[in-house]
Amino acid sequence: MIKLDLKNALNEKEILKYQDKVKQINEVIEKKTGLGNDFLGWVNYAEIIDKTELERIVKCSEYVRNNFDILVVCGIGGSYLGARAAIEALNGLYSKDKLEIVYLGNTFSPNYTAQVIDYLKDKKFAINVISKSGTTTETSIAFRLLKDLLEKQVGKEKARRAIFATTDKKSGALRNLANIEGYETFVLPDDVGGRYSIFTPVGLFPLACAGRDIKMFLSGANEGKLRYSNPTLKENACYMYACARDYMLVHERKSVELFVQYEPHLTQISEWLKQLFAESEGKDKKGLLPDSVSFSTDLHSLGQFIQDGTPLLFETILRIKKSSIDIKIPHDKDDLDGLNYLENKELSYVNEKAFLGTLKAHHDDGGVPCIIIEVDELNENSLGELLYFFMRACAMSAYLLNVNPFNQPGVEIYKKNMFHLLGKKGY
Ligand code: PA5
Repeated sequence: MIKLDLKNALNEKEILKYQDKVKQINEVIEKKTGLGNDFLGWVNYAEIIDKTELERIVKCSEYVRNNFDILVVCGIGGSYLGARAAIEALNGLYSKDKLEIVYLGNTFSPNYTAQVIDYLKDKKFAINVISKSGTTTETSIAFRLLKDLLEKQVGKEKARRAIFATTDKKSGALRNLANIEGYETFVLPDDVGGRYSIFTPVGLFPLACAGRDIKMFLSGANEGKLRYSNPTLKENACYMYACARDYMLVHERKSVELFVQYEPHLTQISEWLKQLFAESEGKDKKGLLPDSVSFSTDLHSLGQFIQDGTPLLFETILRIKKSSIDIKIPHDKDDLDGLNYLENKELSYVNEKAFLGTLKAHHDDGGVPCIIIEVDELNENSLGELLYFFMRACAMSAYLLNVNPFNQPGVEIYKKNMFHLLGKKGY
């Protein structure tokens, strides 16, 4: 169950004034009648997911776990960020799981790409290439390199059995290639866009390969759907949060929402949130700029600006109350570092005091509005609910701005220029 605390940000009474608008927009989301309504498939996808497809995902993930040392997830934006966010949040950054997950297809960087390809040489790896359009250049180039390496390493037939493609049901270059080569494929439904696809095979297959229980993940999303489709604003933390964001933009004239967490393994959740909100809202010269920090690390860099700089931001702090692993500070007989006052204390205790001290500094002294979203502990179920919470809040928030939450027309412009410069036919 997610707890929303707005008392360090604004007066809740102001938010309750949004009740009528919220009721109306909730109906638009439920009945799929608003802007971009043909991309609202994510709203209840976790509930209606094809059970045969789900079992096939579980079976294929077991095959990968039993036969390979590495899974390369090859995708970009909505076609990889959700999976990475969920895997890192649940497994941590130095996981001892028997299957290592490596990411490629998310950059043109020659350094990164060449190093990953080199790292994979002589290793037993499978590939999950993910692209809805099937033509995204970063992903296509990386997949060509991976396929070439794999086929040279194990031969075409074995490579075929190590490649899993997640793409459109019928069209696109990746669909054609997968059909011709005979790869195992999973479908990214027509009515779900990339950044809303975490509960489809896009997120589910890599997460299952990482050893996590995807049925619990989906049941968390379903609980989220039940809880956060409630049109009564004061009973719905998700919509309260969405309205608080709108209030910050419109009434407090803030232009940046700073996502804050106190655990580096949640960094990719912030990356996922940045894409979700920026691509959904940043259009028609509207929207908040989503940015992110990892505390306490970034208190030693951006902390000064947040405390005392131009007052353009508010914080949205993601708090996980109970850490899944902890470590105690040992006693030292000489106490030369002066830390014995903390002996036998767990780091979660220190981290919590850092959170409370920073909240007081930023809010009470710095005047920075701080929204707190709290989850008791992170597991497949609570993470499923949390990610659903944010997707639903994002749809509500974008509709409050009267923009289409599900398109991204601005993303195409740089691509056209780049294709022209690269000499692609038709550009
Ligand atoms: O959210 C989105 O729609 C984008 O981030 C896409 O997921 C991203 O551009 C990758 O597109 P594709 O899946 O077509 O390769």
